[in-house]
Amino acid sequence: MEQVDTVILGAGAAGLFCAGTILELLSERAGRVLILDHARAPGEKIRISGGGRCNFTNLATAPDRFVSANPRFAASALAGFRPADFVALVDRAGIAWHEKTLGQLFCDGSARQIIDLLLHRMRGAELRLGITAEGVEPEPEGGFRIATSQGVITAQQVVVATGGKSIPKMGATGIGYDIATRFGLSLIEPRAGLVPLTFAQQDLDLCRPLAGLSVSAEVSHGAGRSRSRFRDGLLFTHRGLSGPAILQISNFWRAGEQIIVDLAPDTDLAAELRALRGESGRVAVATALARWLPARLADAIAAETGSDGARLADQNNAVLDRLAARVNRWTLRPVGSEGWRTAEVTVGGVDTRALDSRTMQVKSIPGLYFIGEVVDVTGWLGGYNFQWAWASAHAAGKAI
Ligand code: FDA
Repeated sequence: MEQVDTVILGAGAAGLFCAGTILELLSERAGRVLILDHARAPGEKIRISGGGRCNFTNLATAPDRFVSANPRFAASALAGFRPADFVALVDRAGIAWHEKTLGQLFCDGSARQIIDLLLHRMRGAELRLGITAEGVEPEPEGGFRIATSQGVITAQQVVVATGGKSIPKMGATGIGYDIATRFGLSLIEPRAGLVPLTFAQQDLDLCRPLAGLSVSAEVSHGAGRSRSRFRDGLLFTHRGLSGPAILQISNFWRAGEQIIVDLAPDTDLAAELRALRGESGRVAVATALARWLPARLADAIAAETGSDGARLADQNNAVLDRLAARVNRWTLRPVGSEGWRTAEVTVGGVDTRALDSRTMQVKSIPGLYFIGEVVDVTGWLGGYNFQWAWASAHAAGKAI
């Protein structure tokens, strides 16, 4: 039976970074560190991330940018490894980068450079590909037995970095959840996140003819203190609505709930339309709406509310209010999401109450760690998920 000191399950962002941290901090005292993955190449999601340029962190990283049943859990790890720490590694590796928007940092060149950085940093660890982790059992004398497609391996420490369930085609399996459950840990029900939502026929009837149109909108969900809202791009598609604003809100939306889209944020359209009716009542409703919306969208909304061809002067206050509400408070009830097939992340996962927030170690099981997306910590769109992968991996790597 093969024996190693530390096994890391999953050579994605978190696993590779953890191996690098162990090697960097412990050097030859790290013992034998084995990182295994059933994929043919390491860091496959990094390779395709950020449109091939990897949005590797976000300068605005803070605990409130993450969704978790335990919102304070991520704070310690995030404070222990900040965006600037990753940027320092990127700079040291000579990788050119730029800030795109809202603190999002991307490679100028290719996401491949980040994978190379991670592989270079973990030199000294053994990377084994094409090998599937099948389960983990405790050893009676301490340590763990890891069942794999190539036999059993024993290790003093096991780091579970197998990610979530998003995009099975890219190797996601959910094995991390099985391992957690096997050790008596509870799960916050995993669901697809950062994913396009799907809509009922009546909404599709409006969206489909506008497919390809993109607007800046504010999408919100919930009410009071649990209200979440994002102002970002909204894209009309043949399947409904997508774009960053919808992906962001999908982390918060649950089946049966509604979302509200403001197509003209910062504009009190009811007041504007009334004022415009006084000044230039002869303009058509669609023309008036086109002051704030792209013409195609203005036409579609005027048609939908039965005001196409009509003059502004002929509309009473109730009609103008209806039009304004349609623009400022377009209320939709998505019927679902596109699911694991296209989700960028998994919301939910290993319940953080079982984990030590400074080390990611299972409190009741010394030597067993969970890091990255498998844990119930999910970032907003915009580089936050990689920052969580680096920070949680750093916390565990330091503790090992
Ligand atoms: P990750 O999924 O990366 O790695 C898990 C590894 O475990 C995989 O290599 C898998 O093959 C392996 N594995 C699973 N089961 C196994 C088994 N049974 N045996 C052996 N190996 C197994 N985030 C961000 O911050 N910026 C961005 O630009 C993007 N862009 C982006 C685009 C797309 C298309 C997707 C799908 C996702 C993103 N993300 C992102 C999210 C980001 O990719 C994600 O949060 C991290 O990859 C999570 O890192 P982990 O290491 O936790 O899991």
